[in-house]
Parts: sequence; structure tokens; C-alpha cells
Amino acid sequence: MSILTGSPTYPEEQRVYAEAVRSKLLENGVLTPKACVITYGCQQNVSDSQRIKGMLSLMGYQMTEDREKADFIIFNTCAVREHAEDRVFGNVGATKNLKKENRGLIVAVCGCMAQQKTVAEKIKNSYPYVDILFGTQVTHRLPEFVYKRLSGGKRVFETELDNKDIIEDVPIDRENKIKGFIPIMYGCDNFCTYCIVPYVRGRERSRKADEILKEAKQMVAGGYKEIMLLGQNVNSYGKDNPDGINFAKLLRMINGIDGEFRIRFMTSHPKDCTEELLDAMRDCEKVENHLHLPFQSGSSRVLKAMNRRYTREKYLYLIKSARERMPDIAFTSDVIVGFPGETYEEFKETLSLIDEVKFASLFTFIYSPRGGTPAAAMPDPVSRKEKGVWFDELIKLQEKIQKEYDRGLVGKTFRVLFEETAPEEGCLIGKTDTIINISVKADERLLGTFADVIITEYDGTFKGKIINK
Ligand code: SAH
Ligand code: SF4
Ligand code: F3S
Repeated sequence: MSILTGSPTYPEEQRVYAEAVRSKLLENGVLTPKACVITYGCQQNVSDSQRIKGMLSLMGYQMTEDREKADFIIFNTCAVREHAEDRVFGNVGATKNLKKENRGLIVAVCGCMAQQKTVAEKIKNSYPYVDILFGTQVTHRLPEFVYKRLSGGKRVFETELDNKDIIEDVPIDRENKIKGFIPIMYGCDNFCTYCIVPYVRGRERSRKADEILKEAKQMVAGGYKEIMLLGQNVNSYGKDNPDGINFAKLLRMINGIDGEFRIRFMTSHPKDCTEELLDAMRDCEKVENHLHLPFQSGSSRVLKAMNRRYTREKYLYLIKSARERMPDIAFTSDVIVGFPGETYEEFKETLSLIDEVKFASLFTFIYSPRGGTPAAAMPDPVSRKEKGVWFDELIKLQEKIQKEYDRGLVGKTFRVLFEETAPEEGCLIGKTDTIINISVKADERLLGTFADVIITEYDGTFKGKIINK
């Protein structure tokens, strides 16, 4: 169930704390305080970090990439796989020495790992130089946490997680002036058996459509050319919404805003991907010609064990339905190799699905057990080494498919958005609405504009030239 909430504006109380932090820093002789935010994980975390940076600016901090120069280091962490966690512990550990150099340095850990009880305990007991630890639903209280610690209080540990109101109007530092995120929902109710996200992000909560539209209009008016709508399962946006605004309707509403800009979204769950959504994608000229639709496994038996609530057949039917409406649509996806109990025969069904769909690109993962999830308690007889061999087989197949797909694009014309400078001299990167990057000779003044580009060459990367503007 998703819950629609009121929209209290950013609490005045936090603005007061932010002002108090400014004064405290001055009092301590820190005239130009610097903060370094290190972000791991998905776009949701990147988006959260932009709000963290917004609040840091309110407190008077300037951003730095250099942890050695920072007076405040924040690790915004990801818990989705073991590898991500190991990296965080390594980097947090290294701040111990930085603290010897800078006695005033504050270290904070937040995000999805901070929300896990075991991690919070470990940090409390074994990482005494971590000053602040806060979970995923109290981020907006950062000024309060910093103030409390700066004014000589105890270490701060705040990991409250339940259905809280969505706090709107948290200050934000979008960093990029061309493309930006809009979270449309938070949390996840799906409980795929391998996944930690529902435990660390809490229950699904949708933002109100008028808040989302307000933010989208502000971004378009501010010159943004690409809006990425974010949620763990955007297709379940607005469930139980009394206004009846579901994701398809939301897309149509944002598409109705005047101006040339693009709408992207992530992530779609196949179980909630409807014909209504595919119709909206076809009809909305601003919605990109791309669908990220994670399939995870090509075996219906494994999908059931994963609690994904769709079958191989249903997934392939969705792909076909989308292609009927949008013949050139690009698909991307996530896939897990070596889910507990997966056999080689079942893994081969994943390969055949990949061969059938022909994804433009794939995010590939070897299963990583997450404590507290049902899959972590399932028998897992296949060795990690064996899974590695399967994984390589999958990568090889995808590389072959992707090469053919990419070569097939030479000679085609796309409307691109110039997003950044390319490594080649005098060139910009133009992105198509099928998320292909093309290097194009173009003046830097064209950054943030659209042009029609023909792909002239492919040698692992694409080159193209402008045919009109
Ligand atoms: N909400 C998104 C996924 C978010 S996590 C969705 O449902 O599609 C991003 C990806 O990480 C998942 O799609 C999955 O492929 C992968 N993943 C999640 N948990 C994992 C685990 N325990 N081991 C390996 N990969 C995992
Ligand atoms: Fe995890 Fe599944 Fe939710 Fe995605 S839909 S975040 S994979 S539980
Ligand atoms: Fe990681 Fe949390 Fe995103 S676990 S993938 S940062 S929601």
C-alpha cells in the first residue's frame, strides 16, 4: 500500500538549527567550512545527496571533493550488495587518520547501510570516530544533528523508520544545470526475496502529483532539458491515490508542460507495467524511447522463488507489447546470476531470454546474500566460482548482442541533447532518447540544446554529425 501524505514544508526548526551551525562554526574559528559528500548506490542516493548538499549550503559549508580538505565528511551508503558495503567500511575506516590531522573534522554515515541495525551497532562499537549516523527517513534533520554534535553533544544515532510524512522543500543543490532528478515515490513494498531495499527504505510513499508538477515546472522554467523521475517501482506510483493519478497519468501531466525537454524514469517493475503505461509512453513525445525493465531471471521457477510476481511469458509479452507501440524502443535491464538454488538449466533460460529480447545494455550482478532477507536462508549449493563461470558466459553473449545492436545504428538519425563535453577535442556528447551517447563536433555553446544528428561511425563508441538544429 502506498500512502499519500500532506506536504509540510521544510521545517522552520531545521532552518534555525542551520543558522545556529553557521554561528557555531564561526565561533570555532572555521571561517570557510568545507564538506565532502561521498555517494554510493543508486540514483535515489544521488538525489538524496543533492538534498544533503543543499542543507550543507544552508549551514554555510562549501563543497569539496577532497576529503583531506574537508571539515565534514558524509558517506551516503548503499547496502544492496556485499561489495558495496565492504568499500564503505574501508573508506570510513580511513577517516580515523584524517581526524588526527584535523581535530575539528566531523564524520557522518547515512543512507541504506546506516539503516541496518547490524551496521549501526558495528559503527557505534568499533568506529568511535564516526560522529553522526542517520537513516534514510530522517535526512532532512541534518542541521539538527550537526548542531548537536558541534555543540559538544554525544555522538548522534538516528535511524527511525516508519511511515513518516514526506518532507517537501528540503533545500537542494542540483549540481547539473541540464538534467535533474525528481523523486516521485520513496520506499518499496515488493520484498523480492534477495533484496534489502524494503528493509532500509521503508514502505512505499508517493509524493502528491501537484508537488511533483510544481518541481517539474520550476526545473523547465530554470532551463532543465531532462527530468528523471525516480522510484524503486515507479509503476506503483499513486496506488490508493484518492485523486486516481497513477504513473501513466502523471507522465501525461508532466508531458503537458510547455517547452522542449525530456522525461525519463527509473525503475519500472514488470508486475506493474500496464498497457496504459505503454500507451502513455507512445503518446507522450517528451518521454524517452527507452524502458528500463529489470527481468532478474529468465526462469519462471526462479522468478517465483524471487517473489517477482511475473513469469518469463508475461515479461516477453510486455516487451512485445512495447515494441508494437514503439518499434525502435531501447530496452535495458537488470539480471542476477546464481540466485540460491538456480540450476544451470535455469540459467540457460536467462541466456535465451537475453538472446530473444536483445537489450541495448544490461546491468549484471552475481547474487549477493543479504542478512535478514528470505533468500539468504535458502540452500545455495552452486559455488561462487561456478557462478562466476556462468556470469562470464552471460557477459560474452550480451557483448555480442550489444555490438550487433550498436553497429545497426550507424546511418540512423536521432535527436540528441548535448549534455557534456566529449573527450575528443571540440566535441560534445549528445544523448539520444534511447540513451546512446554520440560524440559530435559542436561548439560548447550548444551544451543544453537539442539537435538532429546522424551516426557516422561506430568503433566501440559512436561518432556523428549535426544535420540540423
Ligand atoms: N527497484 C529496482 C531495483 C533496485 S536494486 C527493481 O526492482 O528493478 C538494483 C538491482 O540490484 C536489482 O534490480 C537487482 O538486479 C540487483 N540486486 C538487488 N539485490 C541484489 C542481491 N542481493 N544480489 C545481487 N544483486 C542484487
Ligand atoms: Fe528490491 Fe524488488 Fe523492491 Fe526492486 S522491487 S527495490 S528488487 S524489493
Ligand atoms: Fe543501494 Fe539503497 Fe539504492 S541499498 S541501490 S542506495 S535504495
